[in-house]
Amino acid sequence: MKVEFARKDFGSVSADLLVVPCFKGKIPAWVHAELLRAGVEKDFAGDKGRAYMLPAKGKPYKRLMFIGLGREKTIELDGFRLAAAKAVRGARGARLKDVAIWLDFNGAMRHSEKDVATAVVEGAILSDLKLEPYKKKKKEERKLDRLVLVSKLDLAAAVKEGVVLAESQNYARLVSVEPANIMTPKKLAETAKALAREYGFGFRVMGKNELEKKGMNGILAVSRGSVQEPVLIELRYNDGKKLPHVVLVGKGITFDSGGISIKPSKGMDTMKFDKCGAVMMLGVMRAVAEMKLPLKITALMPATENMPSGSATKPGDIVRMYNGKTVEILNTDAEGRLILGDALAYAVEAKPNLIIDAATLTGAVLIVLGKHGIGMLGTDKGAMKEMYDCGLETQEKVWELPLWKEYSEMIKGDYADLKNIGSESGEAGTITAAAFLKEFVGSTPWVHLDVAGVEWSDGDLGYFCKGPTGKGVRLVATFLKEWCVKRK
Ligand code: BES
Ligand code: ZN
Ligand code: ZN
Repeated sequence: MKVEFARKDFGSVSADLLVVPCFKGKIPAWVHAELLRAGVEKDFAGDKGRAYMLPAKGKPYKRLMFIGLGREKTIELDGFRLAAAKAVRGARGARLKDVAIWLDFNGAMRHSEKDVATAVVEGAILSDLKLEPYKKKKKEERKLDRLVLVSKLDLAAAVKEGVVLAESQNYARLVSVEPANIMTPKKLAETAKALAREYGFGFRVMGKNELEKKGMNGILAVSRGSVQEPVLIELRYNDGKKLPHVVLVGKGITFDSGGISIKPSKGMDTMKFDKCGAVMMLGVMRAVAEMKLPLKITALMPATENMPSGSATKPGDIVRMYNGKTVEILNTDAEGRLILGDALAYAVEAKPNLIIDAATLTGAVLIVLGKHGIGMLGTDKGAMKEMYDCGLETQEKVWELPLWKEYSEMIKGDYADLKNIGSESGEAGTITAAAFLKEFVGSTPWVHLDVAGVEWSDGDLGYFCKGPTGKGVRLVATFLKEWCVKRK
């Protein structure tokens, strides 16, 4: 779908369909006149979630669709994403491929017109993606060809931002949906390399030999049961420039069977999404490069399978991590923290201003926040406050959990410095996992995002279809944009 912006009045829009979002109790006079003319003025009052389509005679657009937004006073930014998704779905259903959306809200809104324009574009682009790359009969064929946002105000930059953010998120969703037999650690490295070529990033991949030489035994321990070799993928944006430096770290478990501490078979297929933290960082890199942010950014993505076999790591095994700390691996299913521990310790060596990691790290975060929130823990209070605000803006909401010293006590090992679980019963599982990661960041400011609850949509919900959501891409990219403004 090609997305464009046109600065003009709605009367001169030529398209298959003109979509007009309307607030309840504030329907524009011309919309009311159209409803009256068709004798259906009682059928549409701008209620939230309502859509109404009419033929448009003698106009440069063939049809009109009114989308109800509900009350102007109470609408959240996400209401505009959802409205845009509804419009796109309606257009697809009617097989209309050339769609215009009219953005005119007579000022007086709680949100800025720019934020609304960005949100509308995001909702449209995110809802236009179907994740069925292996189906013969594709719903893809019903995709829109062109979407044009029309307004009398200059919203071109806001539209562009929405395009960049949503397309980067869709990119992440397309990489994530690939199953584990295709998206192996090696394939993930090739995918990152292709992105590096496209955007001119510095690229490096450490293979098994190099990881051995460096003593990255956390990554190696997790990979031991698999025939796929582990990798540590590194992308560098604005490399060598004197700019504030952020290192992004993403968990790239391409399949998590649990290893010897094997998971139940029910639902195990969803563990192909255990790479979403790493994939998210690919999406973020794409977005920051498109936005040309004045930051130096490094993305580190340790990637491996977690499998059981005769050569697999066993409960009770002890390994020495990259920073020299020893870990008793009591549960091989708590593998994310092992690969992240090495990557975080490596990230610290670059002395960045900030480290952000994202991982589908714990099932426990689903118990705490359900599917509606990202668990956030870390040491940089200022960055976490900013991340919280960006969560509200992007609808990729984060909620902070505490990292009190008592939790660090829970991961002290009996036979080694650390153990990789806090307790057998899983008490405070999300926090003890983060407390484990904290052992590897030293004094570098750090924010950890546990995204295990939000990376998967169970069905067609809002602007997501069933499958990976790519959540976190807009959150972290928006955060980085705000963060570099505030550092100036
Ligand atoms: N990848 C899982 C976490 C997960 C669980 C993500 C459910 C999405 C949905 C992680 O590696 C894991 O298995 N964590 C264990 C840790 C436990 C053994 C301490 C968990 O959360 O059960
Ligand atoms: Zn696991
Ligand atoms: Zn995992």
